[in-house]
Amino acid sequence: MAVERTLSIIKPDAVAKNVIGQIYTRFESNGLKIVASRMKWLSQHEAEAFYAVHKERPFFKDLVKYMISGPVQIQVLEGENAIMKNRELMGATDPAKAEKGTIRAEFGKSIEANAVHGSDSPETAATEIAFFFPRMDIYSR
Ligand code: CMP
Repeated sequence: MAVERTLSIIKPDAVAKNVIGQIYTRFESNGLKIVASRMKWLSQHEAEAFYAVHKERPFFKDLVKYMISGPVQIQVLEGENAIMKNRELMGATDPAKAEKGTIRAEFGKSIEANAVHGSDSPETAATEIAFFFPRMDIYSR
């Protein structure tokens, strides 16, 4: 299986709940290494640009408003099959539908305040990682 990198964001609801460490433990205990990490309070422009693929969706405006409501914790995760593995650990987008034991089932409040974001494909992962991290700030090991 290939070693991949994926972008993960711990969203404002989970940062406010003080569960960054608990979510990091999920990553680390499931074979994902945190190879870059930063906390950031996104501007409206940054949130709109990051979620540009959703700009025609009815929830776009509320999604952006929510994502700028507080700081987020952003990381690059590296490991075998990292993109799918992270999506399994996150669970379904809607926490009410997410499998028991997943990050969203445990820490998410609603489809919008769903604790975490994770890239959904190798192409998206490359674009999303480059959006937040220059190559020199990623420490592979
Ligand atoms: P995320 O993985 O960050 O990607 C886009 C986000 O839009 C998604 O998680 C949800 O938090 C949010 N969202 C809000 N409403 C919806 C919806 N009806 N369908 C899908 N995503 C939604």
